[in-house]
Amino acid sequence: MATNQPLRFDSTREFRAFHDFLHAARGYRLASLYEDAYRAYQRAYAAMGRTNGKTPRTIAEVNEVIDRVPDVQLYFWMMRHVQRFKYSHADWGILEAINTQADRLVPQLERLAEEGLRSGELQLNPAVRYPDYFALVDFHQHPGGLSRRPLDGMVYEMGRAVRFARGTDPRGTDSNNLYRFIFRYLPPGRYHRVLDWGTSFGAGVRTWLQDHPESEVYGVDLAAPCLKLAYARGREAGIKAQWSQQDLEHLDFADDFFDLSFFVFMLHELAPGHMPALFREVHRVLKPGGVFIGMELVYLEDSPFQQALQDAEGWINNEPFMPACFKTDFDKIFRQAGFSKVEIMRFDEMADGATPSDPGVPPRQTWNIFRITK
Ligand SMILES: C[S@@+](CC[C@H](N)C(=O)[O-])C[C@H]1O[C@@H](n2cnc3c(N)ncnc32)[C@H](O)[C@@H]1O
Repeated sequence: MATNQPLRFDSTREFRAFHDFLHAARGYRLASLYEDAYRAYQRAYAAMGRTNGKTPRTIAEVNEVIDRVPDVQLYFWMMRHVQRFKYSHADWGILEAINTQADRLVPQLERLAEEGLRSGELQLNPAVRYPDYFALVDFHQHPGGLSRRPLDGMVYEMGRAVRFARGTDPRGTDSNNLYRFIFRYLPPGRYHRVLDWGTSFGAGVRTWLQDHPESEVYGVDLAAPCLKLAYARGREAGIKAQWSQQDLEHLDFADDFFDLSFFVFMLHELAPGHMPALFREVHRVLKPGGVFIGMELVYLEDSPFQQALQDAEGWINNEPFMPACFKTDFDKIFRQAGFSKVEIMRFDEMADGATPSDPGVPPRQTWNIFRITK
């Protein structure tokens, strides 16, 4: 019998205080430290005596300057280590803290998963083959990734609860309101069969179903610990969906099956060499006229400073495919995959937290919406 108690990590006062501190430290890095770093970079460039009224034009030129700027190094030191502390601090990192409650949480999660398997809502495939880019990378410093330990899904869910977009979902599912912002960009239409492409713990599926309870919704991911949690969270929310462990490159759905597929935080975690096959596969399972929509971090045009910092983030925060993602010609690969319409536009809802108070400082990050039609 599965318990009706919600699956919850019980935080201690020390844990909350530590994570509040990390949150504040992150906020300081993203706002004033970033602006200070930009101004220090400008001063350092001027001091190099090469300006002639110009600023660096390439990422390589920016890198030559920022290597001399301690504020930029502090910015990256904080990026690396605040994130590392979040997951791996020996006392209050999420992994360590959750492990102290594993005796309670793991059996509860496994009982729920067994219920999901019996009902057919959850389908796991222990023989699934992980692509190397998924198996070998500890993305954003999550030690061991999402698929090795039973509570990896919960660890990701806790790590993901960081605010950076405008507002939060009043119903508490979509912690950064990202999914709802993306759904606003959908062309009007009836989307009956829907695929969350890389669903993880299922926030996108639950958000979609809250507004479209009549839809038939599928969440696919490679990581079993995430899918088990997705089933458990769906059960708590009183929604029904189909969760399955599959590689998005080899889906077991029929041709022309879905009206819509959406994605959040996906493209920069995919090895570029796999993208053509991944997009051909989502094209195959969409109906003619079906929509593939999602968001991704992109370079700010004409700002080599921002571009240099974005590339560096890829290396410093264990997002090794991010620099390649920025340079990918998505219009071309989506068309080569067979899509007839490719629309790529600014996703300004994400810009709030990345817009400096000083208008002379470039935005720290820029995001685009990708709206692709079969
Ligand atoms: C950064 S997470 C994003 C998850 C979720 N969309 C969110 O908003 O938090 C990337 C997800 O993609 C999944 N993933 C990566 N490559 C995949 C593949 N080839 N097939 C299925 N899932 C994949 C990972 O397991 C992970 O859950």
